[in-house]
Amino acid sequence: MTARGARLTIHGLSSPCTDVPRKLRRYGRRATADPCRIRPAKLADVPAVHAIEQSVFGDPWSTQDFRDCLSSDALFRVAETTDGVAGYVVALDAADEGEILNLAVASGGRRRGLGRALVLDMLDALADRGVRQVYLEVRESNAPARALYAAHGFKEVGRRKGYYRRPVEDAIVLRCDA
Ligand SMILES: CC(C)(COP(=O)(O)OP(=O)(O)OC[C@H]1O[C@@H](n2cnc3c(N)ncnc32)[C@H](O)[C@@H]1OP(=O)(O)O)[C@@H](O)C(=O)NCCC(=O)NCCS
Repeated sequence: MTARGARLTIHGLSSPCTDVPRKLRRYGRRATADPCRIRPAKLADVPAVHAIEQSVFGDPWSTQDFRDCLSSDALFRVAETTDGVAGYVVALDAADEGEILNLAVASGGRRRGLGRALVLDMLDALADRGVRQVYLEVRESNAPARALYAAHGFKEVGRRKGYYRRPVEDAIVLRCDA
C-alpha cells in the first residue's frame, strides 16, 4: 500500500485554526502571501478535497479514504481561501515519528504559498503531538514538491523502487526533524 493509500486512526482533529497571514511560522517566514486559513478538515470539505485530488493525481484517494481520515487518528488539514478549499494535507503519527501521506494544492492556487503553509502547519501539528521526525515519499520526477520539501529541511534517506503506479516510478523517501 502506498502512503497516499494508507489509512489510520484520529486524535480528534483538535488543532486550532491558523490564520496564516497574521502569524510568522517556522524559519520566521510568513507562510502565504494571500489571505488563507489552515484549519482541520470537516466532512463537508470532502467533495472539494476529492475534486482537487482527482485533478492532481493519477492514483487518487477515494472520497471514502478522506472520510476515513476524519474518523481516524489522522491529522487532516485544509487551506481555505476566499474561493473555498484550495489545498489539503494529511499525516499520521505513531510514538515520535510522523508521516505526511498526502498533500495537494489546486492547480489554480499554486505558487502563492499554500503548499508551504500546509507543510509548515502540519509540521507544527505533528510536533505538538510529540513527533520528532517526519517522513514522506515523493515521486522522483516531482520537482515542485521536492523543492518545497527541501526548502523546509527534508533530506533524502531512501528510495522505493517502482513504488508508484500510473505511471510506475520510484519514490524518494524524505525525512526532517519536526
Ligand atoms: C507541491 C505543491 C503542493 C506545491 O504547492 P504550492 O502552493 O504551489 O507551493 P508554494 O507556493 O507554497 O511554494 C513553496 C515552495 O515550493 C517550491 N515550488 C513550488 N512549486 C514549484 C515549482 N513549480 N517549481 C519549482 N519549485 C516549486 C518552491 O521552493 C517554493 O518556494 P518559492 O515560491 O519561494 O520559490 C503543488 O505543486 C501540488 O499540489 N502539486 C501536485 C501534488 C503533489 O505533488 N503533492 C505532493 C506529493 S508528495
